[in-house]
Amino acid sequence: MEAKVTGLAGLLFGEQIAGRIDALAAITEAPGQLTRIFLTPEHRAGAEMIMAWMREAEMAAHLDAIGNVCGRYEGERPGLPCLMLGSHYDTVRDAGRWDGPLGVITAIACVADLHARGVRLPFAIEVTGFADEEGVRFASTLLGSRAIAGTFDESALGSKDRRGVTMRQAMQTFGLDPDHIGAAARAPAEVLAYVELHIEQGPVLEAKHLPVGVVTAIAGATRLAVELRGIAGHAGTVPMALRRDALAGAAECIVAIEEFCATDRDGLVGTVGYINAMPGATNVIPGMVSFTIDIRSPRDPFRKLAVADIVRQIEEIVKRRGLQLDINVTHENRTVPCAPWLQQQIAAAVMAEGCPVFELPSGAGHDGMAMIDITDVAMLFVRCRGGVSHNPAEHVEAPDADIGARVLLRMIENFAPKG
Ligand code: GLV
Ligand code: MN
Ligand code: MN
Repeated sequence: MEAKVTGLAGLLFGEQIAGRIDALAAITEAPGQLTRIFLTPEHRAGAEMIMAWMREAEMAAHLDAIGNVCGRYEGERPGLPCLMLGSHYDTVRDAGRWDGPLGVITAIACVADLHARGVRLPFAIEVTGFADEEGVRFASTLLGSRAIAGTFDESALGSKDRRGVTMRQAMQTFGLDPDHIGAAARAPAEVLAYVELHIEQGPVLEAKHLPVGVVTAIAGATRLAVELRGIAGHAGTVPMALRRDALAGAAECIVAIEEFCATDRDGLVGTVGYINAMPGATNVIPGMVSFTIDIRSPRDPFRKLAVADIVRQIEEIVKRRGLQLDINVTHENRTVPCAPWLQQQIAAAVMAEGCPVFELPSGAGHDGMAMIDITDVAMLFVRCRGGVSHNPAEHVEAPDADIGARVLLRMIENFAPKG
């Protein structure tokens, strides 16, 4: 049976949060591993579970025009602007269970606690479960939060998943109208701020022996899709010097990216996380390869220079090997600062819970990167075991989840809108 939320006594926040994390993680397309992708039956089932938890906490809950789960807990009177909380409930493939759901589930637990104590605040609280933050299915990311911020790029509707299904088709199959995504957009006047609690996904808090940290900024990122075309041929008959091997070319590009980023300057990191070689047979020289590149740094000018340098190196490699190149930017986000006035309120809540205040930047991307277009954003990180994330071993200890919830609840109850 699920533990009840009983407020600030004991570890029950943490235990209930961990229980709900496990319940949501059971919704997966791949038994034995967690994969919950945008516009799939698992997306729908996850949304239903989250909406049931919201309704239990006396929130009005609905699915918006892009599949975000939206829950609203009215303030002292109906219709007040809201403090928006939340995170995403989509996952990467073979994911950890805490990345995203921790922020959604904790925010609902805080509202449930307010409801149990009969507390209504001079503002509404909304909890949003964003439908696509990871960008696994289509070559774009932050789709849910961009729709809410009114910055959804309609041209993304034509992008295809690996099976050739367009986003437009996938939305229709899911039961959403791709021509009405605009209905998900929120007006800046409706939202006082966006605050997200999230697993740190790195090793810093653990090394500092701290359960929580206040985020200063979210590092900017560029993602590229690369296609190399050579000539498919017989693995036994074409002499090495006469080959146009697209996969060998991709391998050289990948090593060049790794070497370029290995200098570790300005927080620069580069990853090739997906590669596909065609036609994909042991005895055929690969004629076509597609792969992705993910480049990040909290210093935007440096990231842009790095991307330009990496593209130049790829062009040289491709030219020398007689390959053809198609390279496109599929995602670009600037570094997003967390608002100092919100950071101060989170820091005050951290202190009041008896924890030292520690500030750190986020190397991972988050929905705040889109929400910044309509409101000020801030984040609270919760310690991650071993710094492991985007991995099934990802873990948050229940006492840390508990402290995170207490800090968030305290921040909510003391929240003072800007000015
Ligand atoms: C999301 O998890 C990202 O940082 O890519
Ligand atoms: Mn995340
Ligand atoms: Mn993630």
